[in-house]
Amino acid sequence: MTGFLRLAEDIAREAGDMLLAKRPTMSGEIETKSSPTDVVTILDKASEELIRERVLAARPGDRILGEEGGEAPGESDVRWIVDPIDGTVNFLYGLPDWAVSIAVEVNGQVVAGVVNAAQRGEVYTAALGEGAWLGGERLRCTTGVPLAQALVATGFGYSVSRRAVQGEVVAAVLPRVRDIRRGGSCAIDLCSLAAGRLDAYYERGINHWDFAAAGLVATESGARLGGLHGRPVSPDFALCAAPGLFEELHDLLAPLDPERDA
Ligand code: IPD
Repeated sequence: MTGFLRLAEDIAREAGDMLLAKRPTMSGEIETKSSPTDVVTILDKASEELIRERVLAARPGDRILGEEGGEAPGESDVRWIVDPIDGTVNFLYGLPDWAVSIAVEVNGQVVAGVVNAAQRGEVYTAALGEGAWLGGERLRCTTGVPLAQALVATGFGYSVSRRAVQGEVVAAVLPRVRDIRRGGSCAIDLCSLAAGRLDAYYERGINHWDFAAAGLVATESGARLGGLHGRPVSPDFALCAAPGLFEELHDLLAPLDPERDA
């Protein structure tokens, strides 16, 4: 497993360095995807290409799922899950909260994850059963925080019909918690939670590449990550917090039916 983590970290660092170097001149070259607000920059594609090349050079035959290139078939039980830039809109605007995210899954279970928040100069790593780390610092999420004192992060999808419901839901959550944050990168939100900079996170509609690596960072810090009604985390819904707060926030969210779109 250490081998997977080391390789994932080397590749995520190389991609992050490339993005930092090229962002000032090339980040404005964009195309739209699912909606006019859902963009992909030329550098999202360059980052994913670099990551795919490096993974396949080291481990030919492994499968790779990437945000921009979809799933490349392969022979092995190992699948790499890649978000070449999580927080693309932040990247486009020069805000620091974007990250290269790489997870390694073996037989369907994520065993290693790296989130390189390059513009922050922070590389988060986790290996299954071996903890979550920010550089040399072992990460532990906050514990014992009641819902009314919780700093809760969330995010919004790109479609108007989804955002309409997400707006309703956050309006019901806001009066019940310390405050809301919308950072713009699911991967960094989950890593911030692992580092104790946030108490909880929820969002409808995030993809596997958004949460695969950072989800392991969060759970290895002691947090619980799941969906609603005991279901596993999925694009339908993601909820993350220390045990106790997880259940309190769940019980606030579930009756709001946040898995629907308008
Ligand atoms: C987005 C970010 C954002 C979240 C969106 C995601 P992208 O990923 O993680 O925080 O709210 O739901 O789609 O598009 O920047 O890779």
